[in-house]
Amino acid sequence: MGRSPFVGVALALGFTLGAGSASGDAVPKAAEVGAIFSGHVLDAEGAPLPGAMVSVASPEPVHRVTVYSNEDGSYRTPALSFPGPFELRVRRIGWKDLTVTSLDPGNGFQDFRLARETDPAAVAAQLPANYWMNRVLDRLDEPRHREEFLRQCGYCHQQGNLHTRSARDAEEWSKLILLMGRRGAMISADLRARLPDVFIEAYDPATAVPELTADMNHPDFGPVPQIEVRHAVIEEWDLGGPGSMQHDVMVHPSGHLYGVDMPFDKLHRLDPATGERKSWDIPPGDLPIGGVFGRRNDSPASISRSGPHSLQTGPQGEIWITLATGNRLARFDPKTEEFQIIELDSGFYPHTLRIDDRGRVWYTISASNHLGVYDPASGNHRQIRLPARDFKQAMILRAMPFLMWLNRNFDLQGMVAKGDPVIVPIPYGIDIAPDGIIWFSQLNEHRIGRMDPDTGEIEMIDTPFPAPRRLRFDSKGLLWIPSFSGGRIARFDPETRAFEEWELPTEPRGSETPYALHVDRNTDTVWICGTASDTLISFEPEAERWRIYPLPTRVTFTREIDFDDQGRIWTSNSNGPSWQIEGGMPRVLRLDPQGLVARDGRLGELGQLVSGL
Ligand code: HEC
Repeated sequence: MGRSPFVGVALALGFTLGAGSASGDAVPKAAEVGAIFSGHVLDAEGAPLPGAMVSVASPEPVHRVTVYSNEDGSYRTPALSFPGPFELRVRRIGWKDLTVTSLDPGNGFQDFRLARETDPAAVAAQLPANYWMNRVLDRLDEPRHREEFLRQCGYCHQQGNLHTRSARDAEEWSKLILLMGRRGAMISADLRARLPDVFIEAYDPATAVPELTADMNHPDFGPVPQIEVRHAVIEEWDLGGPGSMQHDVMVHPSGHLYGVDMPFDKLHRLDPATGERKSWDIPPGDLPIGGVFGRRNDSPASISRSGPHSLQTGPQGEIWITLATGNRLARFDPKTEEFQIIELDSGFYPHTLRIDDRGRVWYTISASNHLGVYDPASGNHRQIRLPARDFKQAMILRAMPFLMWLNRNFDLQGMVAKGDPVIVPIPYGIDIAPDGIIWFSQLNEHRIGRMDPDTGEIEMIDTPFPAPRRLRFDSKGLLWIPSFSGGRIARFDPETRAFEEWELPTEPRGSETPYALHVDRNTDTVWICGTASDTLISFEPEAERWRIYPLPTRVTFTREIDFDDQGRIWTSNSNGPSWQIEGGMPRVLRLDPQGLVARDGRLGELGQLVSGL
């Protein structure tokens, strides 16, 4: 099948070595754990097809392992931790997906031939949403409008994906944009007036398809994984149900992954070693649907009461959770499996949290512009008002409890959606510097701030870029910040107060919306959510080197990143609404950038054989 006998021999040898059998004789059967698939991805003529994604999945609940094919078309999965029957999919932009249900592992070798996708509309549909969204950006002449569109329309779901780009006339678009305003997209009246025409033109298949696919026969068409990332292994697990949205995930010291399921008020746990899942209901107390906000907008995506948003591990291994719509904190003890609920005295929408080295829980409170701190040792709980930009904003923030009462009774949000909304600051990301200072961002005010926990002194610093979201410190005490609507990341030095910026390498340039980043403090490599482009992106500051990892599921909207003790990257696909994801089933995801490289830094035996050819 278009490969030399030598390759076959090398793969056979590698297969038994890789399977780890002492005598080199055991060929895994369908029912056994530890199967390895390897072979080649080829085109119809038998030429190697590099950069294809080969995914092997278990039946439900799905655990799916994906590898990329190498320059010579070869691929290899690691030893699978789940038994068959296996479902396989091979995919590359520009080719038809090849799927095999109930794949027989046989002797482990599988060569696949992909057929060219010749229908331009089908090829355009394979592109990540940001290619489509870029056409909207191209048609918004004013930078202010582009920024606003990215920041206000890009934070719940992607723009330009299959669901959001479907044809609507001007009236339908206007209605939909008002509906989105009720959901929370606060756009100015002039952008609102402009958008329907822009959408109609940008998404019109008659022009979009030929323009997006003009180069479709070029060998490098579309975002193909770089050669340097092809040792990666990506794993996805079902967690929760089809409507679930793990807003954030976190790796616990036990090695378990925990996720908070916002629409269903649940805490989920995955044991990646065994695939075992467990879930707990977060006690709703007396909260109505919609929590303290009430059921203001009948959104099909908001049936929750507590709205668990973010989570972190405390010093005793306990888990702290912000309950955004319930206006509470929760403490979960993994040993007793019990929750303790702590109410906020003031403020609305507890958001992202961090725990300092005295065990105090610090969190942003985004709707009302507060910073919260809870000390479990003393029971002390405070909400600290953060600076507003001006007097009008400060007044609105103070009137928040009254405005929320109004909204529960009179559909204030619906009225705001029709006017020129007043923007509130939205404290967002938070992290604690090595010297104990609390740093946070104010998303809509384009600034970061610091608070000294001992003196209570607060200082705000304007960022030279828009929309700072979830920020993190590296091992040297430098602060890394993603600019959501600026499509870039920045490094801030708290000593010199200097910012340094890098534009994200996502194509088309300027169409990325990085929601979060995290720094692996062992290497100071920065990992970034490619939220608009279904990717994870890494940046090595010293070499200024980027790596882009295309993810296997389309419409993978990512909001948070965590690392396990082996430096693997965890995230969740977290669309709101969850059903926009390809296949309708959101998953949690682990990326091992060195998945096919032995832990001592050398290529694994089979990896060596395969890539040496
Ligand atoms: C606060 C979250 C949020 C924001 C911000 C948001 N959306 Fe949505 N969007 C949703 C939800 C939830 C749905 C699902 C339908 C519903 O709730 O009515 C949706 C659905 C859509 C759909 C329809 C998809 C379908 O399946 O029919 C389009 C198009 C869309 N949004 C565009 C936009 C635009 C344009 C903006 C900015 C003006 C925007 N969205 C901002 C939450 C949001």
